[in-house]
Amino acid sequence: MTESIIDIKNLTKNYNGTKAIRGISFNVKKGEVFSMVGPNGAGKTTTVEICEGIRKPTSGSVHIFGEEFSKKSKKTRQKIGVLPQEYRSFERLTVKETLKYYSSFYETKRSIDDIIALLDLEDKKDELYMNLSGGLKQRVGVGMALVNDPELIYLDEPTTGLDPRSRRGVWDAIEILKKEGKTIFLTTHYMEEAEFLADRIAIMHQGKIAAKGCLDDLIHGHGGHYTVLLHGFDPKNVNLLGKEPKIDTNGTVSVKVKNPTEISKILQKVIKNDLKFANLEVKRTNLEEVFMNVTGTTIEEGDAA
Ligand SMILES: Nc1ncnc2c1ncn2[C@@H]1O[C@H](COP(=O)(O)OP(=O)(O)O)[C@@H](O)[C@H]1O
Ligand SMILES: [Mg+2]
Repeated sequence: MTESIIDIKNLTKNYNGTKAIRGISFNVKKGEVFSMVGPNGAGKTTTVEICEGIRKPTSGSVHIFGEEFSKKSKKTRQKIGVLPQEYRSFERLTVKETLKYYSSFYETKRSIDDIIALLDLEDKKDELYMNLSGGLKQRVGVGMALVNDPELIYLDEPTTGLDPRSRRGVWDAIEILKKEGKTIFLTTHYMEEAEFLADRIAIMHQGKIAAKGCLDDLIHGHGGHYTVLLHGFDPKNVNLLGKEPKIDTNGTVSVKVKNPTEISKILQKVIKNDLKFANLEVKRTNLEEVFMNVTGTTIEEGDAA
């Protein structure tokens, strides 16, 4: 079995009457990207901050690298890198100076030039932090989490508010860390981010984990299906498809099936009967729909902010 780097059991956290975390258990394995997804107020940051050792749990156990974390061992801290939610840095330091500054707090260090190269920041290394775009600031933030060459990296909503292109740049950086074998605990409220990056996902809702697992298992376990869409299909021929299709007003025929072999069967019928269509699409249930199925709400509706 793969080693658990983070092991959380029955964790709760109350803030003066607010039950932020209501009993969650999960583990994060060595070398994986584990993503906690959920709306604002779900309890993601509280969980991450407890795992980082900067907040005390109300109850439950927290083991990091096999050690009960309340001890805050220096050795464990050396192995952890953190990008906090909505972090800021010094406006008037350059990218290189910023990384050097944060590096100065640690005994174990990764070379700054190496981090700059890794995150593709060479062109920007002498640029002042204040002049960087949001996406570049976040990439520098990932760099700051690497200065002590950690094994475990916490990234709390690293792409919130970024445009799709800048988000992509941060994803590239996370993928590079993953290839290096780092263990990553990523929180996000973007479903597609977890779909793209995570090996395993925990859906967080109102302080509880509503479901967890790899994307395929979550989809299979929570109403997953495929929808075959035949655009520009002659409605007269729908009975030849063999399943119960739905026809919408634009002449699109859709057939809902459970697995890929059923998709093949529909396509075989199309070929056998030489049925014409303008375009074919197959859609799979996504994490957004899984979220709706397990929480009874959309991520936007669930947003407490
Ligand atoms: N320092 C705090 N004091 C009081 N309540 C807090 C504090 N931090 C978070 N909360 C509350 O705990 C709940 C979970 O918040 P948080 O962990 O920040 O969720 P998320 O990161 O998913 O948005 C929210 O209801 C929030 O208002
Ligand atoms: Mg948060």
